[in-house]
Amino acid sequence: MSTKTKTTTAYDEFVSYLEKIFAVSTDEVKVIIKDFHSEMQKGLSGFESSLKMLPSFTDRAKGIEKGKFIALDLGGTNFRVIAVDLDGKGGTTIVGVNKYVIDKQYMEGSGEQLFDFIANCIKGFMEGKNIPLDKKLELAFTFSFPVEQTNVAAGKLLTWTKGFTASGVVGEDIVVLLNEALRKIGIKNLKVAALVNDTVGTLVAKSYTEPSCDVGVILGTGTNACYPEKIINIRKWRGMPPKGNMIINMEWGNFDKLFVSPYDKDIDAASPNPGKHRLEKMVSGMFLGEILRVVVRDLIKRDLIFKDESATNLFSKNGSLKTENMSNIEADTSDNLGEVEAFISKHNVKNIDQNSKDLLKHVSKLVSKRSARLSAAAIASVVLWMDPELKNKHVIGIDGSLFEKYPGYKDMMEEVFIELFKTHAKNIVCEHARDGSGVGAAIIAAIAASTEG
Ligand code: GLC
Repeated sequence: MSTKTKTTTAYDEFVSYLEKIFAVSTDEVKVIIKDFHSEMQKGLSGFESSLKMLPSFTDRAKGIEKGKFIALDLGGTNFRVIAVDLDGKGGTTIVGVNKYVIDKQYMEGSGEQLFDFIANCIKGFMEGKNIPLDKKLELAFTFSFPVEQTNVAAGKLLTWTKGFTASGVVGEDIVVLLNEALRKIGIKNLKVAALVNDTVGTLVAKSYTEPSCDVGVILGTGTNACYPEKIINIRKWRGMPPKGNMIINMEWGNFDKLFVSPYDKDIDAASPNPGKHRLEKMVSGMFLGEILRVVVRDLIKRDLIFKDESATNLFSKNGSLKTENMSNIEADTSDNLGEVEAFISKHNVKNIDQNSKDLLKHVSKLVSKRSARLSAAAIASVVLWMDPELKNKHVIGIDGSLFEKYPGYKDMMEEVFIELFKTHAKNIVCEHARDGSGVGAAIIAAIAASTEG
């Protein structure tokens, strides 16, 4: 970087140190892949592993699934109710969507309050659409947290992630909790036909129209992936006919065989689930802004950036820098970095020197690049697990704002595939998969209904 403070060695040394701790070399990617495979193996065999490898009780779509469903989507700061029609020929129509913000009081209060809130949203949606409350309807419930399923429409929450802490839910069957809340307000005829992780919904929705899609990935508030596994390889699972495939929800956000920087340790320690979801805390949209914030806080302490008292206050405040701010800053290619100026001056920080603006963007890029390279390493692990020589084409269906909106994210991932696989890298095709949480969940409900009947 060409900056005026660059003359000071302390500055140079510290920037090089940051570049080093946030770099993920090709060799490191190869080690990550090896470790992923060993954790996957352990998870599938029922041994202690940071990858839970959870059976989803469903396989991919055939493209012929049909019917009308209400899909529920809970997994972040919004709850959505979606009416979906599947025409049985690969066509899907979203007939209506309502979005409700989940206040912190519900995320962090009691589970009962959270499920009462959800039940009331469903009631509001039905009334708004003139659907009689006593009408028999099938629900497809996308619940994007680690759930140990016991069948396609039942499962217990293993642990909360992404900032949720609502009490009395861990260890409970999510469908039972929802049914109780619905009964309380007089709704008796809604039946949950499928309980679905968002990754599984994404894979199933994409494979409805794209049969070579065999990995579903979320790169958004959280991160995770799923893929179809041969049932015979799910060793922890006894008593099932060892025929066919079942989609496995990996819960890869919890992968923990990684080099972590002191900043990652800070983020982890301050989170509601220390020690858990270490990969997610280095990759996903919920955490990137926080990582950059704690690095800048440190740079301020070392007197290497923003020499204004008010900057100290801004960067000391949890959550003051969002991943969206990073995304805007990185998208700004102007010399004077108006986006940094806009963000900083909005918080009344004065004396914004060019050097500080450049440094903020530089460090932002280190953090986002590490995220993309770790995501690529994780995707490569799953693809190589299924196809060790990368002989076939694999479409990776990806949903989430990091993938969709972060400048250069996809390119940074693809660089890793090229480093690893040279010309074969073209066999990994990352594509945006839209609305797995609505459409995908509805398709799974339809698959469940057809196998039941
Ligand atoms: C978190 C959840 C996981 C979900 C992911 C993406 O990692 O534990 O179930 O798929 O976020 O939303």
